[in-house]
Amino acid sequence: LDNGVGRTPAMGWNSWNSFRCDINEQRIREVADALVRTGLAAAGYKHVVLDDCWMEKRADDGTIVPFASKFPSGMRALGEYIHARGLRFGLYSNAGRKTCEGYPGSWEHEAADARTYAAWGVDYVKYDFCDTAGLPGTPRAIYERMASALNATGRPIIFSLCNWGVGEPHLWGARLGHSWRMGRDVFAAWDEAHVKELKLPGYLQSVMSAVDGIVGRDDVAGATGPGGFNDPDMLVVGLDDGMFAYGIVAECPSHVRACKPGDYVSRERWGKVGGLSRTEQEAHFAMWAFLAAPLMLGNDPRALSAVARRVLLSPDLIAINQDELVAPARRSWTDATAGLEVWTRALSGGRVALLVLNRGEAHVRSVTTHFERDAGEAHVQWARELQLDEPCVNANADAGACATWAAAGECVRNGGYMAAQCARACSVCAPLA
Ligand code: DGJ
Repeated sequence: LDNGVGRTPAMGWNSWNSFRCDINEQRIREVADALVRTGLAAAGYKHVVLDDCWMEKRADDGTIVPFASKFPSGMRALGEYIHARGLRFGLYSNAGRKTCEGYPGSWEHEAADARTYAAWGVDYVKYDFCDTAGLPGTPRAIYERMASALNATGRPIIFSLCNWGVGEPHLWGARLGHSWRMGRDVFAAWDEAHVKELKLPGYLQSVMSAVDGIVGRDDVAGATGPGGFNDPDMLVVGLDDGMFAYGIVAECPSHVRACKPGDYVSRERWGKVGGLSRTEQEAHFAMWAFLAAPLMLGNDPRALSAVARRVLLSPDLIAINQDELVAPARRSWTDATAGLEVWTRALSGGRVALLVLNRGEAHVRSVTTHFERDAGEAHVQWARELQLDEPCVNANADAGACATWAAAGECVRNGGYMAAQCARACSVCAPLA
């Protein structure tokens, strides 16, 4: 989306991975201070986003009301505190009737909620997809309601869609917002074998499973461009003992006592499990950087380990993530048996970034890359994508949409890969002058 903000992936912090529902204004202020103190804010991590559980109820006139017990000073004051530190203020809501934790969602309150957020000085909205069963309209139409409501406020707000790949958001997410979640919540576990070993509930996935859902699919990977990014979920760097898990268990984890399959195991009973090794954290961050994923910290910046700090502040990886071309990352070479991959990403100024990944067993491997084969291919591929003139494969490229985009001048504005898609679509049904 081009509304003047979020042309490169958002960077910041989100409360969910570390704190779940245990949030309050004191804790959020401390996190904001810690972002500044640790240098994370200066490196770009500027959005402070409150996830689920800040909202208690609706007032008689329908206005959303935060928990007074957790936020006695109110949301506007919290936003001011965050802004005063040079940071940006983000809030969560949900497209359906109730949030995943059972609090009021924005369904049929989109316009009022968007106005409230704007009045509180909100710069970023994460929009979840719980409790949408039976609602009229496609996922796209449901998201369109909040997208237009936010647009109508006149405040430039980053809109982060969180519908876990439901309804193929890579095909339309960039029309409505700045990023779209492509899958389940990422837990601090490297691969699916690790997820199985920990007997995690089905709503969680591993780092590598989230990655495969994006870079493993050309159509999904290619949807990334300036102002619109595939979102593999928040970072799990610095969640050194994993993070809280909970949910309905198909099998009981051995450390959870008095549990039978099918039980709901609360996060208190489950405890903390998992976690990524230092090398896995480095690889995880490098892949998020290459994917042009939003870099949202899920750790507790007040207790940042030296390892996490070093990983998260890598200037080269941040520069790749934030490169203005926002070209998609591609796997240019793989050796599935050895678990080796070479990824490439075209960068501005004719540069190419190359990622060599050892995703397999914990063995040191040597890999020889060939610049012509890998890096050279990235720009060739990139140029090819930009020049394609066959009808656009994007499902949005129907005549109506093209005409609307062309009329709104969006085919010109979008820049990068989406521009290529859009221009192609527009040349099919409404050629640009
Ligand atoms: C599901 C989302 O995928 C998570 O990121 C988080 O926002 C929770 N809902 C909150 O309930």
